[in-house]
Amino acid sequence: MSNYSTAYNIPKGYSGLRTAVRSYRFLKDPINFICNNMQLYGGSYSAKLPQYPNFILTQDAAFINYVLRDNHTNYHKSPLSSGRAAQYLGKGMLFINGDEWLKQRRLAQPGFHREKIQGLYHTVVKAIDEYLATMPVGLVDMYPLLYRLAFNVIIKSLFDINLSPETMQLLSGNFSEIQDFVMKDVNQPFRRPFYAITGAERKTMKKSEEIRTIFSGIIQSRKAALAAGESFNDLLDMLMQATYEDTGLPMPEEQLIYELLVLMFAGHETTANVLSWMLYLLSVNPAVLKNLTNCVQQTDVLSCPRNEYLNAAINETMRLYPAAWITDREALTDDGFGEYRYPKGTIIIPFFYGTHRDKAVWPDADTYNPSRFLDENGKAQKFKNYFPFGAGPRLCIGNNFAMAEMAFFLHAFLNHFTIQPTGQVPKMKPLLTLRPDKVMLQVARKG
Ligand code: HEM
Repeated sequence: MSNYSTAYNIPKGYSGLRTAVRSYRFLKDPINFICNNMQLYGGSYSAKLPQYPNFILTQDAAFINYVLRDNHTNYHKSPLSSGRAAQYLGKGMLFINGDEWLKQRRLAQPGFHREKIQGLYHTVVKAIDEYLATMPVGLVDMYPLLYRLAFNVIIKSLFDINLSPETMQLLSGNFSEIQDFVMKDVNQPFRRPFYAITGAERKTMKKSEEIRTIFSGIIQSRKAALAAGESFNDLLDMLMQATYEDTGLPMPEEQLIYELLVLMFAGHETTANVLSWMLYLLSVNPAVLKNLTNCVQQTDVLSCPRNEYLNAAINETMRLYPAAWITDREALTDDGFGEYRYPKGTIIIPFFYGTHRDKAVWPDADTYNPSRFLDENGKAQKFKNYFPFGAGPRLCIGNNFAMAEMAFFLHAFLNHFTIQPTGQVPKMKPLLTLRPDKVMLQVARKG
């Protein structure tokens, strides 16, 4: 273990060779690998990678707040993940920085305000009900089922039209392939030359182009329908009607397609992950399951997003299994936090999973206890050490939408189905998001 001190004061950590030796262990089990290092180094540590000589991982909430919120103008999304993802998914707001990002965020933000999102509630509830009406029961792996459900919901919310099953299949299949490729590429950048030779890059780009072509077709039909006097209530309509503050013009079509790709990307797997983990947690915590079932039986579906207990149960799931388990930023100038000083170009990796399970902060950190998110009057408690949707100006734009969608799902699911555990504990699969490997449950329809 080396402590390479420089003129800067970078957290202790690994030198290049040690990082290389450890990268195998990282690839095998990234979360436990990082957690062990956090314990060893006290909450922040550094690693040297060939392409990123200064690399700091931290689960220190104050440090994370500094980077994401207090001094956010000095930090950009790093090329580590965004660069490659943008190559295939385009320059939507998730992957861009600076003025370009601000312009897009300002344009889309009003459409995601809670009141505006309420306009989509009926669409979301309907999509969930339709899906659950035909959902298989018995001994099932809930993850692929909930993935498809969340995919249907985001597509219906983006496009208030019926897409053929073939189109849905193509969108979802292509999307998964792009995501898997980007993840492999981010984790194993040394394999890049092979991707070019084997044609994997070209194949992935083709998948992306197919999705863009479908989106372009939808936009053309939409323009024609609007010209014929039809009206729509979906996220595409919101994005098409919005105009830039400075020019008063709407988004160019290419950018519109990028934003649709980003919303589709950011808006379904995250939700599917949280709901899958949650059903598992409920299956092994019968007292919470009972409370929550009683709660949804007594609550009208559209009031669910305001129900404190329901939200606490979702929040507690995202504490234990944050869908965004990690993110990344690059320092634009020399900077520092606390005792640390680091140079321009340093990559900071907020490790939300570690922050959310820090035993020094959370009593019984590994226990599923929704009540910790409620005060003695049953009102929501907020925590500075809790980042399910990130922090600062780049906080998840879809957070209200996601919370409402998950509440609607729980209302429908717990009113119509029962679940029993099977003794199988889902393995964590930390890709771009924190997926459960399999969520095997005994599911039955209520009589
Ligand atoms: C449980 C579900 C969700 C979770 C846990 C989640 C989490 C996050 C997090 C942590 C970020 C910030 C990443 C960073 O700072 O690097 C983020 C950004 C974003 N999310 Fe979500 N998200 C969820 C659902 C959604 C949904 C449903 C949508 C859209 C309908 C969405 C759209 C976005 C977009 C566009 C960004 C980029 C915002 C920006 O950079 O300005 N997310 N999300």
